[in-house]
Amino acid sequence: MEAPGERAGENVSFWERTAKKFQSAPLGEDLITDVCVIGAGIAGVTTAYLLARENRNVVLIDDGPVGGGMTGRTTAHLVTVVDDGYAGIEKMLGEECSRLVAQSHTAAIDKIEDIAMENKIECDFERVDGYLFLPPGGSVTELMKELDATHRAGLNNVERVNELPKTKIKTDAALRFPRQAQFHALKYLDGLGRAIVDLGGKIFTGTRIVSVKDGDRVEIETSVCNTITAQAAVVATNSPINDRLVIHSKQAPYASYVICLRVKEKIEHALFWDTAETAEEEKKTIAPAAYHYIRFARDEHGDVLMVGGEDHKTGQADDCEQRLAKLERWTRDRFPFVGEITDRWSGQVLEPVDGVAYIGRNPGDKNVYVATGFSGNGITYGTISGMLIVDLIVGRENGWAKLYDPARKTLQPRVLADYVRENANVAAQLRDYVTSGDEPSADKIKNGEGAILRNGVRKIAAYRDESGTLYEFSAVCPHLKCIVRWDSCEKTWDCPCHGSRFDALGRVLNGPAISDLQPLDAA
Ligand SMILES: Cc1cc2nc3c(=O)[nH]c(=O)nc-3n(C[C@H](O)[C@H](O)[C@H](O)COP(=O)(O)OP(=O)(O)OC[C@H]3O[C@@H](n4cnc5c(N)ncnc54)[C@H](O)[C@@H]3O)c2cc1C
Ligand code: FES
Repeated sequence: MEAPGERAGENVSFWERTAKKFQSAPLGEDLITDVCVIGAGIAGVTTAYLLARENRNVVLIDDGPVGGGMTGRTTAHLVTVVDDGYAGIEKMLGEECSRLVAQSHTAAIDKIEDIAMENKIECDFERVDGYLFLPPGGSVTELMKELDATHRAGLNNVERVNELPKTKIKTDAALRFPRQAQFHALKYLDGLGRAIVDLGGKIFTGTRIVSVKDGDRVEIETSVCNTITAQAAVVATNSPINDRLVIHSKQAPYASYVICLRVKEKIEHALFWDTAETAEEEKKTIAPAAYHYIRFARDEHGDVLMVGGEDHKTGQADDCEQRLAKLERWTRDRFPFVGEITDRWSGQVLEPVDGVAYIGRNPGDKNVYVATGFSGNGITYGTISGMLIVDLIVGRENGWAKLYDPARKTLQPRVLADYVRENANVAAQLRDYVTSGDEPSADKIKNGEGAILRNGVRKIAAYRDESGTLYEFSAVCPHLKCIVRWDSCEKTWDCPCHGSRFDALGRVLNGPAISDLQPLDAA
């Protein structure tokens, strides 16, 4: 078994297969710095790099390697199109906010291009067109409303097209978004890691943070009791580890699946995503999303087609093989030029209730900043986080600050309805305390598998490794005590409440939990 946090699941993503991750030594002493950035995904690395460019002393910490979190499991479409669409954002937040969303994502793509060029990072950055298309039976009227909303948001070059290039996808209409982009997420992070060190920044990997205390000086503590004292701290751990509930009640974790298939002929690169909606009836159960997102990428053997979708709420489905098979069928029906599957994996996105990320000062704090709620746009949001949080720290005006303020309240009825629905779903997970286990006893657990067992009033997370050794932990999530569930694809324990995830041996992979599943004798 690898070191904890090496990657966020058993499956190796395309990015992990084709690039190495930046690593350094763990922190082994107390430190004083200007800014401590916690989490070395796209948000933390970009923030640390931009701070180092401002001549700030910056320390970047991660409990795994750089890029070992969700940035290593992305599909890295760099797009101006947000998951809720501009018509949706307008409805929830108004026209001015919609304009700022378009402006900030456009600026983020430009920033990534500039950073890659300035630092000569070979990260396969490529400008490509993006196509938002209707699935069978999709509403042309709704798509045209989206077109009008993109124009009002300032994306005037978006246009309607009636065909998609180089696919067999039949659609009644699509929107073409020119000058979108794609890149290799881990090659980019590796280059930025080096640039941070060249600028005098310090990076410590393999270092877990267990406490962040706000004040005139922020006190940050590691799991081995080293302290970092900083004028400011940025919590860029994807799901904030410093917040118990405020932000976690305003966003919901969703698992998403990806497959890559070898491309058998030369195809011009483009991005695609559809507008498939989830049936209302299904939303009441595990709230899956039916949409797909598609791009090309290149390894040493040529191109692959990367297709994502089949989302469901984290920890609330364990049928990944069916989901991956469905994704494969969907792809082969529409892209006749694909061959064998080269990679498959899953990851997690955090959906904010009002459609835009939470980036800025942590609610109630003076010098602690957070970046979260990135939905499926986290590469651009991670870059926006760096640009915005650095401005807040150095005291520069930034027109996006109010839009992304983590303390904002949105009283629009659709937002309130989603808030109530997601939190009722969390409360419903407490029924796991009274249900039976997945298996009657540990004898039934096959090698390489895990299951929840019941022992009197206790729930136990039991995993049998490939050699037959059984490991047992308390199944109670250390965050707010929901019961975790087994994910047979990634071989992780996933919390269905706020998305904490643990590896098969109970070691924490994703916040908000900061500690591992407890051994049975300690629980
Ligand atoms: C399948 C999938 C497809 C996606 N597709 C796209 C896409 O096409 N376009 C797009 O823009 N976005 C996409 N996203 C979203 C995007 O990839 C993520 O939102 C983004 O990468 C998150 O970056 P981050 O920096 O917030 O978090 P991460 O990359 O997860 O980084 C957080 C880091 O914090 C570290 N950490 C956590 N807790 C601690 C602790 N206690 N102490 C120290 N370190 C800690 C972790 O080890 C991790 O390295 C996709 C996501 C998935 C899962
Ligand atoms: S993540 Fe909140 S209870 Fe598990």
